[in-house]
Amino acid sequence: MINSARIARRVRQLGRQISEVYADIDTPLVMVVILKGATVFAADLLRSLSIPAELEFVRASSYPTGTSSNGRLRLAHMVEGPLVGRHVVLVEDIIDSGVTVNAVAKRIRKLGAASVKLAALLDRPARREVEVKIDFTGFVIPDRFVIGYGLDYAGLYRELPHIYSLT
Ligand code: IMP
Ligand code: MG
Repeated sequence: MINSARIARRVRQLGRQISEVYADIDTPLVMVVILKGATVFAADLLRSLSIPAELEFVRASSYPTGTSSNGRLRLAHMVEGPLVGRHVVLVEDIIDSGVTVNAVAKRIRKLGAASVKLAALLDRPARREVEVKIDFTGFVIPDRFVIGYGLDYAGLYRELPHIYSLT
């Protein structure tokens, strides 16, 4: 669906865009990466930034196995550093129903962040259940389950360099 060269080009653009938006903040940006799917995207995005940034991770999952949400959300790991007064970019692989990122954003705001924005590699609006404002979007994709570049099916295929639709 999306080859690695196209992904790389888009991620560099997002990195430049984010660097411009946060050019004037007086503390390092905090990238909060939603495990596990967003790690590959986050690693490339981080290296596309021209501003200082810290890394934090949260573990959230509404897809324990398979290709459809069971509607429940697990938050197994929260950020370690204090976020009070910090500017945060949540980094997610794909926004589907929006439930995951909404829940994480709510928790991060409660920790006193000065601002919380969202960077998503993929946006699949067809199955949205809750409204989500994506500040930095890589690609809008049609209603297909995708794998590769960090995205999995039952834990597999994250290592693929390109993004494929699973058939
Ligand atoms: P949401 O909470 O329904 O928006 O689901 C988002 C989460 O489900 C993401 O963190 C992904 O890890 C996972 N997910 C949703 N769609 C896909 C897909 O097509 N491939 C792989 N993972 C997916
Ligand atoms: Mg996942």
